[in-house]
Amino acid sequence: MASARAVAPPRVVAIGDLRPLAERRVPRAVFDYLDGGAEGESTLRENCRAFEDMTFRPRHAVSFTNCDLSTKVLGLEVSFPALLAPVGYSRLMHPGGERAAASAAGRAGTAYILSTISGHPLEDVRAASTGPVLYQLYLLGGRAAAEDAITRARNAQFSALVVTIDTPVAGMRERDLRNGMKELLGANPFARIPFLPQVLARPRWLLRFLLDGGVRPLPNVVIPGEGPMTLPDVGAALASAVVTWQDLEWIRELWRGPIVVKGVLTGEDARRAIDAGAAAVCVSNHGGRQLDGVPASIRALPEVVSAVNGRAEVWMDGGIRRGSDIVKALCLGARAVLCGRAYAYGLAAAGEAGVARALEILRADVERTLRLLGCASVSELDRSYVEIPASWER
Ligand SMILES: Cc1cc2nc3c(=O)[nH]c(=O)nc-3n(C[C@H](O)[C@H](O)[C@H](O)COP(=O)(O)O)c2cc1C
Repeated sequence: MASARAVAPPRVVAIGDLRPLAERRVPRAVFDYLDGGAEGESTLRENCRAFEDMTFRPRHAVSFTNCDLSTKVLGLEVSFPALLAPVGYSRLMHPGGERAAASAAGRAGTAYILSTISGHPLEDVRAASTGPVLYQLYLLGGRAAAEDAITRARNAQFSALVVTIDTPVAGMRERDLRNGMKELLGANPFARIPFLPQVLARPRWLLRFLLDGGVRPLPNVVIPGEGPMTLPDVGAALASAVVTWQDLEWIRELWRGPIVVKGVLTGEDARRAIDAGAAAVCVSNHGGRQLDGVPASIRALPEVVSAVNGRAEVWMDGGIRRGSDIVKALCLGARAVLCGRAYAYGLAAAGEAGVARALEILRADVERTLRLLGCASVSELDRSYVEIPASWER
C-alpha cells in the first residue's frame, strides 16, 4: 500500500516547490527551455545567489496593523510590487499559456507583460486580464511587423511597451541544443525522431499540446505579405531584430505611450535609455539567458539607480524566488520587480492555478518580510534596511 505521504498532494509552500512539479509535468526539452540559461549558466546561478550577499537591518519593537504592499508603476496601481515578466511561448508550458498567466496576474491585482513570442493573439491576452497588460517588443520580422503589433497593442489598450535591448542574437542555450528543441519544433518529422522519447514520457502533456493544435505560428509577429512567423524561424530572425537607440526613437513616435527599456546593466545604458524617452528602465540580464558572465541583476541595480537619479522608474528582474528578494530590490531603489521563472514554474506545474499559487506565495512573503523588518509600507523601504557588499557601490 502506498504511504499517505506518497499519495498526499504535494505541499507547495515556496517557489522552490513548484520547480520539481514543473519538471514532472512537462517534457525535458520544455523544462530546460524554461529553467536553463546561457553557456555555463554562471549568470543564471549568480542572479539567485547574489541576494544572499545582502543582509537585512530590521527595526524591532514597532507595531502596526496595516501593511501596505501596493505601489504604482508608470502611474498604474498594482497590489504588490511584482509584475509578471515576458516569458516567450508560455503555451509550451501549458495550453493556457499567456492567457492563463495574464488572468492570474489580473486576479492578483498586478500587471502582466506579454512577450512578442506569444502563442496567443495579444487581443485575447489583454481580454483575459482584469489588470494592466504591457507588451514586450522585439523587432522580429522587421519594422513592418513591429508596426502592426504596436498598432494592435494600442487599439487593444495595452498600458505600455517594454522594449528588450539585450537580444541582438539568441544566447547560447546549450540545454536546448542538446534536447533537440529546434528539431522538435521544426517541420521535419524525421529530424524529430531521436528526441521523441522525452516527449512520449509525458503523455498527458503531449495530449493537451496536440489538442491545443501543437506548434502554432506566432499570431503577433505578422510579416506583411507573408503572414505570421513560425516558432522555428525565431532564432534566425532575432539576428536581424536588434533594437538600436535609433529604433527606439522610431518606436516612441509610433507608440506615443510609456516605454520601458528592458535589459539595462550599466549606468551608461540607463542614461541613454532615459535620453531616448524611456519612462522606466528594467535592470535585467534576461534571467541569465543571454550573455553569460554579466553580473547578477541585483548587483547591477545600485549603479543604475544612482545613474538614473530619480529621472525615471527603475525596475529589476533576475533571480526573484522569494518575497525577501523583492524587498531587497526595493530597498536598493527598484520601484518593482519582474518575476519570470517564479511564475512560469507554476504555469508548467498547474496552469493558471499554479501561477496564482506562485503569486500568493510571493505576496505573503513580501508582507511577512516587511513585518519582520518593522516597515509598514513598501514605499518606506530604503537603503537603511539592508547592508550590501562594498564592491556593489560605484
Ligand atoms: C522561458 C523564458 C522565456 C523568456 N522570454 C522572454 C521574451 O520573450 N522576452 C523578454 O524580454 N524576456 C524574456 N525572458 C526573460 C524574462 O522576461 C526575465 O527577464 C527573466 O525571466 C528574469 O529572470 P527570472 O526568471 O530569474 O525571474 C524569458 C525568460 C524565460 C525563463
